[in-house]
Amino acid sequence: MQTQISSLTIARPDDWHVHFRDGAALRSVVGHTARRFARALVMPNLKPPVTSVEAAREYRTRIVDAVTAHPGLLQAGAGFTPLMSLYLTDNTAPQEIALAKQSGFVHAVKYYPAGATTHSDAGITRLERVYPALEAMQRHDLPLLVHGEVADAEVDIYDREAVFIDTVLSQILRRFPGLRVVFEHITTREAVQFVQGAGAKLGATITAHHLLYNRNAIFQGGIRPHYYCLPVLKREEHRSVLLAAATGGDPKFFLGTDSAPHARGTKETACGCAGVYTAHAALELYAEVFDGAGVLDRLEPFAAFHGADFYGLSRNVEKVRLERSAWKVPDAYPFADASLVPLRAGDSVAWKLV
Ligand code: DOR
Ligand code: ZN
Repeated sequence: MQTQISSLTIARPDDWHVHFRDGAALRSVVGHTARRFARALVMPNLKPPVTSVEAAREYRTRIVDAVTAHPGLLQAGAGFTPLMSLYLTDNTAPQEIALAKQSGFVHAVKYYPAGATTHSDAGITRLERVYPALEAMQRHDLPLLVHGEVADAEVDIYDREAVFIDTVLSQILRRFPGLRVVFEHITTREAVQFVQGAGAKLGATITAHHLLYNRNAIFQGGIRPHYYCLPVLKREEHRSVLLAAATGGDPKFFLGTDSAPHARGTKETACGCAGVYTAHAALELYAEVFDGAGVLDRLEPFAAFHGADFYGLSRNVEKVRLERSAWKVPDAYPFADASLVPLRAGDSVAWKLV
C-alpha cells in the first residue's frame, strides 16, 4: 500500500476570483482569504458596481483597512494584497481602461452578461457595445474576465456556458486576438476543450466546489440552497473533465474560488441567491481534490504558479503548510449582522492549514 503524505508545504497561493462584498460583510469574510492567500483578485459586483478606477481605489482601501484592523488575521510576517478589477458596462470609456492600466492596482476588467448572475444588471447587453473598451484593453494588455454564460430565457440553464462559447467568447477571441481573457469558473467539458484548443492568451479559473460536486448535490434528499451557484453545478461527466484539467498540469488552468458570501436568510428562502462560500477552507478543499486524484504535487503549480504567470506577476516566495488532519467546519460564520452557511457546514474537511 502506498504511504499517505501527511503534510505539504507549498508557495503561498493566490485566489484569482473572489467576492468580498463591502462594509461589515467585507470585514466578516476577508480574514478567511487573507490567511490563506498572498493575493486575491476581487470581483467588482458591488451595489453600485465598481466601474471606475476611483471607485476601485476606494474599495481597495476599505479592503486593506479591513485586513489591517485585525492584526491577528495574518500569519506572522505574511502579507495580503488585494488585486482589483473593474466592472465592464456598455458605457465603459477607453480612457477608463488607460487609467486602469496606469493605476497599477487594477489588474482586470470583468464582463457580466446583463442578468446572468448576482448584481449583473449593469452588465453587457450587446457585445458590440463594448468593442471600444475591449480594443483599449487589448492595446493596454489589461485582461478581460468573463462570466461565461448567456442569460437568454430560451437557453437551458445547463447549456448557458456552451452557448456563451459559441455566440460570445469565440467572437471576442476572433476580433481581439491580442486580448488576454480568463474564462471564469468553468463548469463544462465544452469549456475545458475550448480553453485547451485556444491560444496562450486564454486561461480559465476552476472553483473547488465545481471540482468536488456535481449537480446531484443541489438535490440530495431535498433542495440544498447552499450548493446553488452560477454557473450551476453540472453533471458528473463534466466534473470529471474539469478535474482532469485542474490536476493535469496545464498552465492555462488556475485557482479561483468564486467564494461568494450571502447571508443565510437570502439563500434559505423562496428565491435564494446564487453563491457558494468556500473562503474558510479554500486551499484545504483544493488539497482534498488533488489528494483524491493522487497528484498532490500538482497543487502548488495550480494554486500558486499558473495564475501569477498568466497575469504577469511574480510568484510568491512565502510558504504555507497543510496537514492531513480533519477538522469540523462550523455550522455558520458571522456575516455583518447576520450569519452565513459555509460549504461543509457541520461536516469535516480532510486537510488543515497550519
Ligand atoms: O454564484 C455566484 N455568485 N455566481 C456569480 O457569478 C456571482 C456570485 C455572487 O456574487 O454572489
Ligand atoms: Zn464570481
